[in-house]
Amino acid sequence: MKLLESQKIGNQILKNSMAMAPMTRSRANLNGVVSDLTVLYYTQRTSAGLIISEAINISKQAVGSPLTPGIYNQDQINGWEKVTKAVHENGGVIYAQLWHTGRVGHSLVKNGEQPVAPSAVAIEGQQHFTMEGMKDYEIPRVLTTEEVENIVQDYK
Ligand SMILES: Cc1cc2nc3c(=O)[nH]c(=O)nc-3n(C[C@H](O)[C@H](O)[C@H](O)COP(=O)(O)O)c2cc1C
Repeated sequence: MKLLESQKIGNQILKNSMAMAPMTRSRANLNGVVSDLTVLYYTQRTSAGLIISEAINISKQAVGSPLTPGIYNQDQINGWEKVTKAVHENGGVIYAQLWHTGRVGHSLVKNGEQPVAPSAVAIEGQQHFTMEGMKDYEIPRVLTTEEVENIVQDYK
């Protein structure tokens, strides 16, 4: 395989074999809606054969860091549709990276809600970026099995 050669992945024909890795930009607004700046950012990168978007929150509970975008309400979807339209018009291929941040978040960026995880085990030896600076990780609230099933539905 040569880097500049076209490549087929699944049912997508990529114009070359370069892929852009997902990179969190923290450029959405406080409601998780991306702006024209994000449209410009991805449009400028359509020379890559494949773009994987920055990680996108699948629900309010999924949010872990400030100014990360979501795709769980209509305003957020409308913002992403401007991005995908512009990327497609410029010959690019883009896929969304979906995420739920689990315990890798902080109540300061979750409207006071404790982060959630399968176990009540905090991350040690690292800190998390918040609007109020770096903070120690908190002990997450344990999810019920039903809540885990709901998160799977949020991904869908
Ligand atoms: C600023 C920045 C933001 C990133 N955000 C994400 C992200 O949202 N999702 C993800 O899976 N990886 C993220 N990564 C990791 C990159 O996608 C990539 O895996 C990492 O930089 C290592 O790539 P490399 O081995 O080609 O250097 C981020 C990396 C950087 C530098």
